[in-house]
Amino acid sequence: MTRIEVKVGQRSHFVTVGAGLLQQADALLPPGRRFVVSDSLVWDAQGDRLGLDCDPILVPPGELSKSWEGLRLLAERLIGLGIERGDLVVAFGGGMVGDLAGFAAAILKRGVRLAQLPTSLLAQVDSSVGGKTAINAAGGKNLIGAFHQPEAVLIDVDALDTLPEAELRAGYAEIVKYGLIGDANFFGWCEANSAALVAGEAAARRRAIETCVRAKAAIVAQDERETHGVRALLNFGHTFGHAIEAEAGLRHGEAVAAGMALAFRFSAERGLCTRGEAERVAAHLAAACLPTRLPACDPAALLRRMRQDKKAEDGRLPLVLVRAIGSAFVARDIEEAEIAAFLEREAH
Ligand SMILES: NC(=O)c1ccc[n+]([C@@H]2O[C@H](COP(=O)([O-])OP(=O)(O)OC[C@H]3O[C@@H](n4cnc5c(N)ncnc54)[C@H](O)[C@@H]3O)[C@@H](O)[C@H]2O)c1
Ligand SMILES: [Zn+2]
Repeated sequence: MTRIEVKVGQRSHFVTVGAGLLQQADALLPPGRRFVVSDSLVWDAQGDRLGLDCDPILVPPGELSKSWEGLRLLAERLIGLGIERGDLVVAFGGGMVGDLAGFAAAILKRGVRLAQLPTSLLAQVDSSVGGKTAINAAGGKNLIGAFHQPEAVLIDVDALDTLPEAELRAGYAEIVKYGLIGDANFFGWCEANSAALVAGEAAARRRAIETCVRAKAAIVAQDERETHGVRALLNFGHTFGHAIEAEAGLRHGEAVAAGMALAFRFSAERGLCTRGEAERVAAHLAAACLPTRLPACDPAALLRRMRQDKKAEDGRLPLVLVRAIGSAFVARDIEEAEIAAFLEREAH
């Protein structure tokens, strides 16, 4: 197994990546009383692999559980079970469970301990690392949340065996993101190895997951709370993506794929990167069966969503754009009208 440190001061901890880790969870998790939170699909698929003697708290699968009501039910349940400050919430599932259980851990008793056991590809390469937790509000995704670092993250690549292929492909979009924002060589590796990764080749999965976790850990170590702009690079494709996700009902990763293709074309139109690079990126995402175009939806509604996104500042939309594959930056000078015109063109 590989151990990668996330250096966040006193909350520094390790992410362990390997095969068969779930069976060893008892030994690998910090000691103490543990409260396992999962969703019913994950539990049915993977619960028997988890080497913990526990009675899990199961929430319904799906983004709707990441809501005020879902949080209320989970928090009341944990309080009813007598959870204490020193106890550990173990989030065992995809990004939904990680965000919901993580946020509950952040606020219960003003913060209880947390461990992440991500079971979806998206959660393994992205959401389980970095300490962001949140639920959704009527006004947008992830608007109510907290930074709450886990004490341990265990990434068992075997858990992916039961993940539906569409979820796997959606998670793959976040892998490509790391190449696009900061590592052109890794993007080349993705082009050569995505088929093996999707088909289940363990070495390809581990290499991709470890590369992404290292990249995310390095970014989080520099900018844990997204105050200097470095961490904002991880939002590449996400301002377009969150709007598409909400308007067209795509999976998060699918919407991010379309968002990244859009961000590349937008960058190319501004003369920041070449059209050839934008096409190369779209071709790779399409080869992985991910969307690269706007789904049928109203461009004006998309722009409204983008404005509501938590990253909107002073009426201007900060957007992560690219100078090349592997070279992203935060642009703060983009007028809404320019984005509106771009979305109109993309919609036709
Ligand atoms: N906190 C962060 O930094 C961060 C980053 C990115 C995304 N997110 C959040 O993550 C969520 C998306 O995560 P997701 O794509 O993992 O969604 P998800 O947790 O809803 O999982 C997708 C589906 O796969 C199922 N599943 C998960 N693992 C499985 C397994 N091993 N076997 C069988 N089925 C399995 C789940 O039951 C669910 O039906 C969104 O809410 C998004 O906002 C958070
Ligand atoms: Zn994402």
